Amino acid sequence: MSREKVIIQDVGPRDGLQNQPKILTPQQRVHIVRALMAAGVEHIQVGSFVSPKAVPAMAGAAEIVSELQGQPGQFSVLVPNVKGYELAIEAGARIIEMVVYGSEGFSQANAHMSRAQSEAACMEILDRSVEDDVRIITTISTSFDCPFDGVVEPAVVEALTARLLERGSSVVVVADTIGSADPARVRKLMNRLVGDHGPDHLCCHFHDTRAMGLANVFASLESGVRRFDASVAGVGGCPFAPGASGNVATEDVVMMLEQMGFDTGIDQRGLMEASQLVAELTENASGGRAAPWLRQMLEASS
Ligand code: COA
Ligand code: ZN
Repeated sequence: MSREKVIIQDVGPRDGLQNQPKILTPQQRVHIVRALMAAGVEHIQVGSFVSPKAVPAMAGAAEIVSELQGQPGQFSVLVPNVKGYELAIEAGARIIEMVVYGSEGFSQANAHMSRAQSEAACMEILDRSVEDDVRIITTISTSFDCPFDGVVEPAVVEALTARLLERGSSVVVVADTIGSADPARVRKLMNRLVGDHGPDHLCCHFHDTRAMGLANVFASLESGVRRFDASVAGVGGCPFAPGASGNVATEDVVMMLEQMGFDTGIDQRGLMEASQLVAELTENASGGRAAPWLRQMLEASS
């Protein structure tokens, strides 16, 4: 019997590394991407086209995109504005992820634009992408809570999701930027979104700040979501979102999904090798919650 597939996009090389005290070179980041590819991770967010003054750790994204040209994989890059989109196109990126916001405060802090301006920029990007022949993913940052404005009403995220899908976004990522969501809220919102749009164009992105990352993955899985962002070694956190910690670790998500009978296409042993590389390079990675057990289990079976 064939197992049901779940797509995991590893956002470690972007969300994971953008806030590390130790800045990695583009070549080191390409090494991590290659290690993830070797583990069977097909979808990888490899960097962002943002101001290198604002986020020095992401400088050199064009070099990374060019290195990966022609390699088998679905490589995305993140952009905060139209300028980032233009730089990404110039570099040859094929999948571009634009950020919009559930809240005003975080839009201002992150992109120096109002929510409405970020959405307008996103709509312009969606329109231009048709001629540029690139695929656009949109991430709704602060889909649950904002570090500045507090609770985000689900109706805001529902309406925004509908507008983005209508305008041609290939996927809408519902992002819990500060890791404050709980499974009950996640289930309620994702039930609505999957009910309205089906699961094929939806993705969830959780941070593990309050130790509910995996529980939130499970809740959205129960709502029918079959695509998740996660970060190798659990690295991550946004420099502009006070209190946010790392993403839910790819190792933990793969372990849970595979044990539950889903097919992620990812090899746990290869993933642990990629995780080890991230830990060595950053000198600052948890490796996820199940890391000690996974290491023991893999050593025993080798
Ligand atoms: N990529 C590279 N440089 C960019 C850029 C982009 N996407 N957008 C703006 N810039 C540059 C401008 O060219 C300008 O450079 P200069 O100082 O050398 O002239 C500088 O950034 C400021 O430009 P301005 O138009 O005044 O920018 P802004 O204040 O409206 O916005 C941001 C600056 C938001 C783009 C910048 O702070 C940024 O890139 N933030 C990163 C956000 C991020 O990565 N968050 C985490 C992921 S969600
Ligand atoms: Zn994130």
